[in-house]
Amino acid sequence: MASQHQALNDWVQSVADMTKPEAVYWCDGSEAEYQSICDALVASGTFIKLNEEKRPGSYLCRSDPADVARVEDRTYICSANPDDAGPTNNWRDPAEMKTLLNGLFEGCMKGRTMYVIPFSMGPLGSDIAHIGVQITDSPYVVVSMRTMTRMGKGALDVLGTDGEFVPCLHSIGAPLAPGEADVAWPCNADNKYIVHFPETREIWSFGSGYGGNALLGKKCFALRIASAMARDEGWLAEHMLILGLESPEGEKTYLGAAFPSACGKTNLAMIIPPEGFEGWKAWTVGDDIAWIKPDASGKLRAINPDNGYFGVAPGTSYESNPTAMKLVEKNTIFTNVAMTDDGDVWWEGMTKEPPAHLIDWKGNDWTPESGTPAAHPNARFCSPVDQCASVDPAFNDPAGVPIDAFVFGGRLSKTFPLVYEARDWQHGVYMAATMGSEATAAAENQAAIRRDPMAMLPFCGYNMADYWGHWLSFNKSGMQLPKIFRVNWFRKDADGRFMWPGFGQNMRVMKWIIDRVHGKVDGIESPFGKMPHHEDMNWDGLSFEKAQFAQLMEIDTDAAVREAEDQRTHFDLFDDKLPDALEDERQDMLRRLSGAPAKWELPAA
Ligand code: GTP
Ligand code: SPV
Ligand code: MN
Repeated sequence: MASQHQALNDWVQSVADMTKPEAVYWCDGSEAEYQSICDALVASGTFIKLNEEKRPGSYLCRSDPADVARVEDRTYICSANPDDAGPTNNWRDPAEMKTLLNGLFEGCMKGRTMYVIPFSMGPLGSDIAHIGVQITDSPYVVVSMRTMTRMGKGALDVLGTDGEFVPCLHSIGAPLAPGEADVAWPCNADNKYIVHFPETREIWSFGSGYGGNALLGKKCFALRIASAMARDEGWLAEHMLILGLESPEGEKTYLGAAFPSACGKTNLAMIIPPEGFEGWKAWTVGDDIAWIKPDASGKLRAINPDNGYFGVAPGTSYESNPTAMKLVEKNTIFTNVAMTDDGDVWWEGMTKEPPAHLIDWKGNDWTPESGTPAAHPNARFCSPVDQCASVDPAFNDPAGVPIDAFVFGGRLSKTFPLVYEARDWQHGVYMAATMGSEATAAAENQAAIRRDPMAMLPFCGYNMADYWGHWLSFNKSGMQLPKIFRVNWFRKDADGRFMWPGFGQNMRVMKWIIDRVHGKVDGIESPFGKMPHHEDMNWDGLSFEKAQFAQLMEIDTDAAVREAEDQRTHFDLFDDKLPDALEDERQDMLRRLSGAPAKWELPAA
């Protein structure tokens, strides 16, 4: 089979000529196809079928210990001009990189099947959605893409005979010689290249089978390539969850929230309103990526390009995220979690007491005395959206949902209060551009704390300073822009304890945010931005005293000045590309701090 689309057929043929697979297979996206590939993965030893009673339709997969997360130091942006990739991306000359990749891909699929995966990021046919076609030699990637995207025939139908698609070429880089036995997780230990050509909108990924390195619809397309498309076309591609909050009166407010990887997006996206919020409902549109376009009236409307959740397993429990626990009860592919003696899964934080015996993520016997994690810290579940109990009724709406607030947050143990609001759009862009966080699994070679503007540091497909300029360009007449907030669930006290209970209690902060959106409360001016009084928040069902809150909100002026000075080092990276507006905002912040007491505290109401 081939498609009705000549350019697509030609590309597939040219890739097959180069990679020399044993067979070429076009995916139709059907249930039967998914099942037969999963069965084949079980037969080949890549998948372990989990206990059908305990975890129906689910599989465990253990990756090579050298292939467990995105590899940021092997991720490249290839633009003609190095300045268009900018100082925060790894740049390579496009022609030189193509030569290198052509060498790597030559014959790289020998002995394997080459799969062709047409997919839509976003609802089929939506004006905000886009089509991609991934070629891969990994059947694990095929079944994961079926869960994560709208994959198969529907996407080909949208593509028609001459539609546009982003070509996403992927190989695990592990050809098989005739008669050579395969391993459970083939990959290339020596050469990994996750390469983007934003100018020609192409992706080439070699050597890794894991997550964002290999499921190319996600970070490679929906963020790195899409961010460059969005710059050219006047929209935004962001590392954001999309959450709808519905009041007891039925008023619904949507917000987009950007947190770096493994900082709580999935959690907030599936929040359950706690005690004290009777009648409130929280609806999940997305947990990782948002594509956001202004409509004719200048309102920003967002879709979630994904069709599934590829979420961090460790730390997920019926206490911290019951919706995610129910989501993964069936039809889920688990990667690098531990296996129980009765063929179910376990990970750190799932239960207070670990089981007495497990098989760990490397396939070894494990007991609580082992002293190593049973699940890899970046172990993931991959589950379809329609299993999420809180999925928003508008999830498939091609028009997207209207966004009233943007929220930015990192994992910051010091200096930063629980929540504050930007004075205006420009100040909000500054707040987002200077955001920082502690490092995650995918950024092993980074310092403990790194600047992660808009949570997009690893995902912006062009110069970060131009990206800030693009954000600033939305500040024009005719736009109905969302309010912008910063939050921090992770501030710690002098004894190293989290000062905010987090998780479900984050609803209290969200409620203040939407009260601000609807003009129901005033914000208190602080050197950082506008803040709530203790009295402005709903504390029903939680004892969180005024003094505790004051401590969580206080600003140590010296620390804040040091922070603002350190932001200059961050800005200096971008030379004259830095938009003046951001340095103006930094100066304003320093001016506000110069008039502040050593310890700034919320004034009495
Ligand atoms: P990516 O999928 O990597 O983009 O990450 P994500 O932002 O979706 O991360 P996720 O929601 O999976 O969060 C990962 C970790 O953050 C888990 O270990 C959670 O337990 C922890 N976490 C989430 N929300 C909170 C919170 O409110 N407070 C605290 N203390 N920890 C949290
Ligand atoms: C992230 O790292 O931000 C993820 C996981 O969401 S992955 O899809 O592997 O990039
Ligand atoms: Mn992510």
